Amino acid sequence: MARAVLPLTVLALCLAALVFSSRAGADAAAGRKMVGVYELKKGDFSIRVTNWGATLMSVVLPDSNGNLGDVVLGYDTVAEYVNGTAYFGGLIGRVANRVANARFTLDGKTYRLFRNDGNNSLHGGHRGFSKVVWTVREHVGGGASPCITLFYHSFDGEQGFPGDLDVYVTYELRSPYVLAVRMNATARGKATPVNLAHHAYWNLGGHGSGTVLDETVQLFASRYTPVDAALIPTGRLAPFYTGNGLAGVRGKDGRVYGRYGALCLETQGFPDAVNHPSFPSQIVRPGQVYEHNMVFRFSFF
Ligand SMILES: *[C@@H]1O[C@H](CO)[C@@H](O)[C@H](O)[C@H]1NC(C)=O
Ligand SMILES: *[C@@H]1O[C@H](CO)[C@@H](O)[C@H](O)[C@H]1NC(C)=O
Ligand SMILES: *[C@@H]1O[C@H](CO)[C@@H](O)[C@H](O)[C@H]1NC(C)=O
Repeated sequence: MARAVLPLTVLALCLAALVFSSRAGADAAAGRKMVGVYELKKGDFSIRVTNWGATLMSVVLPDSNGNLGDVVLGYDTVAEYVNGTAYFGGLIGRVANRVANARFTLDGKTYRLFRNDGNNSLHGGHRGFSKVVWTVREHVGGGASPCITLFYHSFDGEQGFPGDLDVYVTYELRSPYVLAVRMNATARGKATPVNLAHHAYWNLGGHGSGTVLDETVQLFASRYTPVDAALIPTGRLAPFYTGNGLAGVRGKDGRVYGRYGALCLETQGFPDAVNHPSFPSQIVRPGQVYEHNMVFRFSFF
């Protein structure tokens, strides 16, 4: 996807909804547990997903001239995701972002999490949901609504978090050029913080095409959560924010991703909410269901 022939043509719109409901979750039978790469294809729109970390490996679509390009950063092989530290396309959990000092107190009991970011726990700990093998529950590669549903059972005490948790993520292609990512999690037995995030790195000029600094993003948000030196929210809500990027990560097709090489739209609950009583709660109690839906809608002009 040469930037020269791309009068920036693709607009991604990301909508997220975080809701809790108390429907009972469905326990389905155990499925496959091998690591594979699964394609979903709808005309000239296609994605690849691996059940390693429920990771989105590629999103290929045409620009307004019909040239196909892959607009997310990542690696060519699953093996590289195993060692990777950038969380390319991964499904982040049990709690995305940082938990200050890797500890929190819930219902009078203090829990200690795995420290993998100085004194903090980051993106679920050392082996968060983006570093485990998910089970493929359904894969429909083509047709009207190609989709893949992945399941992960997180056990009581995993990375320090309380209680068993059943987690599903579904990727679905809808016409025209719409990618839906639906996540849900059901707490079994104990209350637990849950804050999932999808970690795709977008570059609408094509992965490895340079920086995203000439792309425009409009966020329908009025405030953000400023952080301290250890990247923990100070508790303040402030207006205005710009993102940053990477530093020389070797990715797909031998491309090297530099600083500002992509933008992540990590919709999520407030960071470190479990340690900030003034932030909206991210606690899911037994029988409650956490739901988080994202829709990426690409249009051309
Ligand atoms: C979670 O998502 C899966 C896959 O879409 C679905 O089968 C299941 O019913 C959902 N669970 C709840 C409790 O909504
Ligand atoms: C992953 O890291 C291990 C240990 O450093 C190394 O032996 C292996 O070659 C790496 N794999 C890839 C695909 O980079
Ligand atoms: C971790 O916490 C200890 C004790 O409070 C402190 O001395 C140390 O500087 C902290 N380390 C980092 C990397 O913040």
